[in-house]
Amino acid sequence: MVKNFSIAIDGPSASGKSTVAKLIAKKLNFTYIDTGAMYRAFTLGVIEAGLDPKSEEESNSLIGKISISFDEENHITLNGKDVSQRVRENDVANNVSYIASYKGIRLHLVDLQRKIAKNKSVVMDGRDIGTYVLEDADLKIYQVATAEERAKRRYKENLEKGIETSFEACLDNINKRDYIDSHRSFCPLHPANDSVEINTTDMTIEEVVDAIIEIAKQRGLTNGK
Ligand code: CDP
Repeated sequence: MVKNFSIAIDGPSASGKSTVAKLIAKKLNFTYIDTGAMYRAFTLGVIEAGLDPKSEEESNSLIGKISISFDEENHITLNGKDVSQRVRENDVANNVSYIASYKGIRLHLVDLQRKIAKNKSVVMDGRDIGTYVLEDADLKIYQVATAEERAKRRYKENLEKGIETSFEACLDNINKRDYIDSHRSFCPLHPANDSVEINTTDMTIEEVVDAIIEIAKQRGLTNGK
């Protein structure tokens, strides 16, 4: 029987989790699951429905009424439509941490995340993967970098994607989301006790990927699929 493995990558906004997670999944032939994209898609659903993301009650009213999934190309979809570019826009980035602080929405999306991960080897990135969603993950990484470095990365990423922002706006958004994400009452952002912390401030993407693959090898996670 082939054994399935799971790698959880958590950390604050724009710490490079998704880029790294995607590359690791490719190298190990695991499925990549971007949980942040799911919270972003829900946020877009709230905005498109003309509801107020700052209202828990209004936002909760969409649970079960909108559908969020990944298509064959692993792009995030909202009600069947590919919204992977759209969810990176500022209106979503500025509201997603409110949506992610509502327990009902989290329980709903965590349920979906666990279903998607079932019977597969996965690399899942987010804020609460090692502490809650995949509590028994075979490897838990907690990726950090200074807020300035993260804002620099996000600013560059936005420029490449044609999203208009300034460095200051990126830094402001990152600081605000860090605060909300780590202070919410249900599943706040914090490292799991058994996670390995990697400070990526002065590391290239390749260095981070190599470091994680090395630990995965040591733990025998590359012998599955
Ligand atoms: O790409 P970036 O690091 O900026 O953010 P993301 O991973 O796309 O996540 C967007 C937001 O969703 C975060 O700021 C959190 O508020 C929320 N989130 C969460 O609460 N739990 C997760 N597992 C993933 C994301």
